Amino acid sequence: MRNSIVALLHVLLFSRLVAVAASTDLVSRGEHKYSPYASNLTRWPHGPHGTRGASGTLIDNERNKYVLPITVGGQTLNLEIDTGSSDTWLIQSGYECYYTFDNSSQTFTESENSSFCNWTSTFTPTEDFAIIPNLHQLTCYGSGVPTRHCMYGPLGYSNVTINGLEVPHQIIGAPNESSNPLQGLPDYSGIIGLGFSGGTMAHKSSTNATVQYPSIMETLFNTSTFAAPHSKKFSFALSRDASSTGYGGVLTIGGIPSLTHPTINASSTFTSTPIEIYANTSTTQYSWYNITLEGFDFGERLVAPNTTTIIDSGYNGLEIPSEVATMLNNNWSPPGNVSGSTIFLDCNAVLSSAFGVRIGGATYYIDSADLVGQMTNGSCYSLVIAGFPPNGYSVGDPFLRNALAVFDWGEMVISFYPRVYYQS
Ligand SMILES: *[C@@H]1O[C@H](CO)[C@@H](O)[C@H](O)[C@H]1NC(C)=O
Ligand SMILES: *[C@@H]1O[C@H](CO)[C@@H](O)[C@H](O)[C@H]1NC(C)=O
Ligand SMILES: *[C@@H]1O[C@H](CO)[C@@H](O)[C@H](O)[C@H]1NC(C)=O
Ligand SMILES: *[C@@H]1O[C@H](CO)[C@@H](O)[C@H](O)[C@H]1NC(C)=O
Ligand SMILES: *[C@@H]1O[C@H](CO)[C@@H](O)[C@H](O)[C@H]1NC(C)=O
Ligand SMILES: *[C@@H]1O[C@H](CO)[C@@H](O)[C@H](O)[C@H]1NC(C)=O
Ligand SMILES: *[C@@H]1O[C@H](CO)[C@@H](O)[C@H](O)[C@H]1NC(C)=O
Ligand SMILES: *[C@@H]1O[C@H](CO)[C@@H](O)[C@H](O)[C@H]1NC(C)=O
Ligand SMILES: *[C@@H]1O[C@H](CO)[C@@H](O)[C@H](O)[C@H]1NC(C)=O
Ligand SMILES: *[C@@H]1O[C@H](CO)[C@@H](O)[C@H](O)[C@H]1NC(C)=O
Ligand SMILES: *[C@@H]1O[C@H](CO)[C@@H](O)[C@H](O)[C@H]1NC(C)=O
Ligand SMILES: *[C@@H]1O[C@H](CO)[C@@H](O)[C@H](O)[C@H]1NC(C)=O
Repeated sequence: MRNSIVALLHVLLFSRLVAVAASTDLVSRGEHKYSPYASNLTRWPHGPHGTRGASGTLIDNERNKYVLPITVGGQTLNLEIDTGSSDTWLIQSGYECYYTFDNSSQTFTESENSSFCNWTSTFTPTEDFAIIPNLHQLTCYGSGVPTRHCMYGPLGYSNVTINGLEVPHQIIGAPNESSNPLQGLPDYSGIIGLGFSGGTMAHKSSTNATVQYPSIMETLFNTSTFAAPHSKKFSFALSRDASSTGYGGVLTIGGIPSLTHPTINASSTFTSTPIEIYANTSTTQYSWYNITLEGFDFGERLVAPNTTTIIDSGYNGLEIPSEVATMLNNNWSPPGNVSGSTIFLDCNAVLSSAFGVRIGGATYYIDSADLVGQMTNGSCYSLVIAGFPPNGYSVGDPFLRNALAVFDWGEMVISFYPRVYYQS
């Protein structure tokens, strides 16, 4: 999911700035080697369509997450993998819960019983979390209507272990105030922001000014022990979990997992496309994983050519150009029922034609099952919605369940291997 303050800053500060190196030349270079530094992901809740909570706006990321275990200070907790943000944090034991965060006064309002925020497993800082004086975390997620989902608290240095690799002296958050409601998934404790340092945001406590710091991947890729045979990339294959076991797929650091494992079963070929740079007036900086899709394939048509989008593992749906969203949502079989902004579907609905995204000359098909979400009352709905400025477009889990994605910091490309059929 995207950090809404970063999105806001983007609008306020970056609007006149030029994206450089946004070459749409498609590349297919480099090679990917097997890496053993892998962890299995868990998908909450279990089942092919996931389930969203009863409250909140459509596709608000609540209650549908892919989580990865990380270890800090001897405590192993599950964090959501998020390519749409760069801050890593774990909810702190004894946190205070609030109904919302008031944007104008920049304060939390209306204390709630902690069962409202409902974090289950929490992090207890010890001497392994070295608090940084004069810095704090304030991170808000989502669109902010009707409630603002924010996390506030101390930042500290910790040694973090992820997939058997140590990330030394990493800045992480241990927020002790939260207005993130109903997040009580079993064993879910925070977010690992897999983005670039340019997407991090800490605040100076004296002035509230924002400052950047090395993101967890930046730190890991820069440690002296992270040398050949490791290479500066991570990859993941998210699972649809058709068998409802909770198996969420695999995340590998330093290379790729076995392409032929039945839970992955990726093609042996891939295409790549450059990650696009955000530039501000003084420097060039990567922050999000933006790429340009050559377009969307639906039946025989290529629609919305050259669409720039973020690839966001923290997003449950597809937020795409309105002409594509409308076309898809008009072509469900059986047809959907529109109610407000939600398009209700038969839980087994399928698109009438094959749908995919085109990257590097290849079409990556998306299984209709991955475009159908489910509410706690059992109703199903379309995960395809129209995106508009300033947020733009976001391609999330429905696509990522159909490809092995390689985020390559060496070549600054994202590579995708199609996965049409796999087990789980
Ligand atoms: C992940 O799960 C698969 C399938 O159950 C299993 O074969 C594999 O050994 C697991 N990998 C790790 C790193 O636990
Ligand atoms: C939040 O407050 C800032 C000023 O502090 C304002 O510029 C911004 O528009 C507000 N955002 C929302 C979503 O109300
Ligand atoms: C908080 O909620 C729990 C469960 O609903 C309840 O047992 C507890 O008494 C509540 N605490 C307070 C202070 O209201
Ligand atoms: C949160 O943590 C900070 C730093 O440790 C502390 O100063 C503050 O009192 C804590 N707030 C709450 C509500 O516990
Ligand atoms: C992290 O590990 C280093 C040694 O690698 C150690 O010096 C340091 O105290 C550890 N703890 C923290 C909080 O950084
Ligand atoms: C809080 O979390 C528990 C345990 O995960 C869950 O059983 C319960 O339904 C959650 N409460 C709400 C209000 O979501
Ligand atoms: C920083 O923000 C807090 C509210 O979150 C506010 O109380 C405080 O006055 C601000 N500090 C400065 C120096 O603006
Ligand atoms: C590592 O550190 C160097 C400077 O020491 C910096 O130029 C580079 O961008 C850093 N990040 C990575 C991922 O290598
Ligand atoms: C541009 O990047 C530099 C270097 O990271 C940073 O100090 C500066 O605040 C950025 N400017 C804006 C407007 O974000
Ligand atoms: C899409 O981008 C390519 C490469 O820059 C360009 O050749 C092509 O004309 C663009 N197509 C459209 C419809 O904008
Ligand atoms: C990155 O993608 C987001 C979402 O579509 C968009 O708002 C932003 O303008 C893009 N940035 C660049 C540099 O293309
Ligand atoms: C792997 O994919 C091939 C087609 O590419 C398919 O025939 C085979 O059944 C798949 N294997 C698994 C385990 O899903």
